[in-house]
Amino acid sequence: MARRTLIAGNWKMNGSVSSLDFFDAIAPAARNSQAEILICPPSTLLYQAAQACAGSGIRVGGQDCHARQSGAHTGDISAPMLREAGASHVIVGHSERRADHGETDALVRAKSEAALEAGLVPVICVGETREEREAGRAVEVVASQLAGSLPEKSRDMPLVIAYEPVWAIGTGLTASVDDVANMHSAIRECLPDPLTTCILYGGSVKPGNAADLLGLDDVDGALVGGASLKSIDFSAIIAAVSRKSEPLR
Ligand code: 13P
Repeated sequence: MARRTLIAGNWKMNGSVSSLDFFDAIAPAARNSQAEILICPPSTLLYQAAQACAGSGIRVGGQDCHARQSGAHTGDISAPMLREAGASHVIVGHSERRADHGETDALVRAKSEAALEAGLVPVICVGETREEREAGRAVEVVASQLAGSLPEKSRDMPLVIAYEPVWAIGTGLTASVDDVANMHSAIRECLPDPLTTCILYGGSVKPGNAADLLGLDDVDGALVGGASLKSIDFSAIIAAVSRKSEPLR
């Protein structure tokens, strides 16, 4: 069964209206690629970003959503709101939200379910800390996060998993290709639809390491933070997909 490569950018709390020319800048790379391209800007820019990439095939997504559809939750944004603004995907359970906002696996599961219900593809993030990896517990931790964070009914659902080792995020450190290969294969074994679910790697993905990471069998794309803020770097990462073995799986 085919799994399409997905190159996703997470702008985190960065970007302004003046950043929207990014979409024109990456359009040539996106056009020349068989990969699906997704940018998750801050929610204040989502609607304008969706307008800016209309017709280009580039998609936009949210960085988080509330588990409820509406209600008295000051400052939060629901999945249907993201969808209305033009999102196709939403990141849930990013380690920065797990750390900054104390998000638990159970909450991430509820958010994933809310996303699906609103017609969004949840990009469910998991990953171990440095201490957990050094203690030899990386696979156990990630398997447990998956068991707690995947939607209750996840078979035949359009899910994306992002493996982002916490210690590799924004640090310039990347997991070795062997570690990534092992973890992605372990993650696949935890999934209800192992053959069709797209598993991204995230954590200091850059033009210089993208081809090696994307070349791994079980790596179906990347979730890119810092390097998604520069159109030249992000375009180079998109271009690295073409070096992934053809035909695309
Ligand atoms: P960096 O690419 O900046 O390490 O961030 C990764 C990330 O957290 C993407 O969600």
